[in-house]
Amino acid sequence: MKIAFFSTKSYDCEYFNAVNKEYHHEIKYFTSYLNADTANLSQGYDAVCAFVNDTLDKATIDILAENNVKLIALRAAGFNNVDIAHAAEKNITVMRVPDYSPYAVAEHTLALILTLNRKTHKAYNRVREGNFSLDRLEGFDLHGKTVGVIGTGKIGKVFANMMQSLGTYVVAYDKYPSDELKQNGITYLTLDELLATSDIVSLHCPLTPETYQIINKNTLAQMKTGAMLINTSRGTLINSEDVLDSLRNKKLGYLGIDVYSQEENLFFEDLSEMVLEDETISLLMTFPNVLVTSHQAFFTKEALTKIAVKTLQNVTDFGKGAESPNEVKPDVYKSK
Ligand code: NAI
Repeated sequence: MKIAFFSTKSYDCEYFNAVNKEYHHEIKYFTSYLNADTANLSQGYDAVCAFVNDTLDKATIDILAENNVKLIALRAAGFNNVDIAHAAEKNITVMRVPDYSPYAVAEHTLALILTLNRKTHKAYNRVREGNFSLDRLEGFDLHGKTVGVIGTGKIGKVFANMMQSLGTYVVAYDKYPSDELKQNGITYLTLDELLATSDIVSLHCPLTPETYQIINKNTLAQMKTGAMLINTSRGTLINSEDVLDSLRNKKLGYLGIDVYSQEENLFFEDLSEMVLEDETISLLMTFPNVLVTSHQAFFTKEALTKIAVKTLQNVTDFGKGAESPNEVKPDVYKSK
């Protein structure tokens, strides 16, 4: 099939070209984001391949439909950036890669926790400048602490097991608790109970109308003073302004984020010589107890290979008219 590939980075070409030797699709790489301004580039293509910061709203989808695009092939697990119902109305199928490496994201989550706690990023800079002092580098033992996992699907499950193996007490909140995790000794609580008891809270639920800003002024107030909040899921699961206030008031002790509510204007680009116009992220980055990475949790060799294989397999399956569990249907939020 002919695929218009958006938001292309060099690593996308590298992995997709290697895998496409087996699939033989015709791929045209565009560096621009996919949105209503760029959607016309899809003219003459059967499918578009999109990533997390592409905007597939009604306006974009209308243009894709006019151009006779039949498939939106997401090279990501999350699909919150696609108006699924409108795509269905326009007879455009949406497919995603629901699982490629839960380990990649869970391990990056652990990296954020350990870095924030033990301040290895600061130690690295200090010793390179001949500063061997330990002042203000003290951390805490993870062992014996309580870790609250919100969303225990594929990533949350791996993360919960990983944290348990480090000797932490893991509690969880999910609309659909996992029997497997319960058998492993993980306790499901209400959201209120989890927030009140956790030393570390980590978000692993999808962004849905229900989880939008699940971390806000009220839920932050319920957390333990000095607790750590980690978000490797989607930026708008947290209200960034409320988190900023909580850090200022020394209620929230640490913040580690791999995703940010306004990340489409920042992440994946080299802005090192530019003045950042986003005041909230600029302020957040001035805090010594905040660590920001730019949506890199998925970024491992294994995950990139699986993303390319599964995305191109999705396109092939669609071309053959095969049923696929990777299709995102309009009733997605109702099913589990
Ligand atoms: P999943 O679908 O396997 O698990 C999500 C879990 O959240 C499910 O158990 C579900 O029941 C639960 N959930 C849904 N609504 C909820 C609610 N209102 N309250 C509590 N729990 C709720 O998804 P997976 O693969 O574990 O991915 C989770 C999220 O991680 C994705 O939606 C995506 O946003 C994010 N992600 C981030 C990446 C990164 O590079 N930073 C890469 C891949 C995924």
